[in-house]
Amino acid sequence: MRTAVYPGSFDPLTNGHLDIIKRSSKLFDKVIVTVLTNSAKTPLFSTEERLELIRRTTKHLPNVEVAAFSGLLVDFAKQNQCNVLIKGLRVVSDFEYEFQMALANKNQMPEVETMFLPTAQEYMFLSSSIVKELARYHGDLTGLVPKEIEQDILNKF
Ligand code: PNS
Repeated sequence: MRTAVYPGSFDPLTNGHLDIIKRSSKLFDKVIVTVLTNSAKTPLFSTEERLELIRRTTKHLPNVEVAAFSGLLVDFAKQNQCNVLIKGLRVVSDFEYEFQMALANKNQMPEVETMFLPTAQEYMFLSSSIVKELARYHGDLTGLVPKEIEQDILNKF
């Protein structure tokens, strides 16, 4: 069984993330969307809130699981007998950071492979930070985040 881990902060999940989840769920038998800690960021949504928003949005995808882990991504991958990490790439500026992470992860777990999926063109500009900025000032989130979690995000502010 081919399992892939799709890691991230997901603070909150966007349609860009969901697009990557759907596409990778067609490529693998199982995809584990994993909420991890990015030590460079202070999350707005708690881990529990982020898990619940992802679960609600992906419940119709039978081979997608949702999990949280505090620690190294490779340790989570090892625990789940998984050696594929999925990352979405938007713009060239994502590349440098993601390439560094891919090499650091491979340094810690030589058998791990990072697979990059290019973000869909319509979501190239989209990020959780942009979504939070729009929500803070009551911007329109239509098409940027899954419909079923739009109000939860707006209510946070
Ligand atoms: O959505 P993000 O914030 O870009 O995701 C980054 C994330 C959470 C995947 C990354 O920070 C991570 O893997 N954190 C866990 C700790 C770890 O394994 N770091 C990479 C090796 S230095």
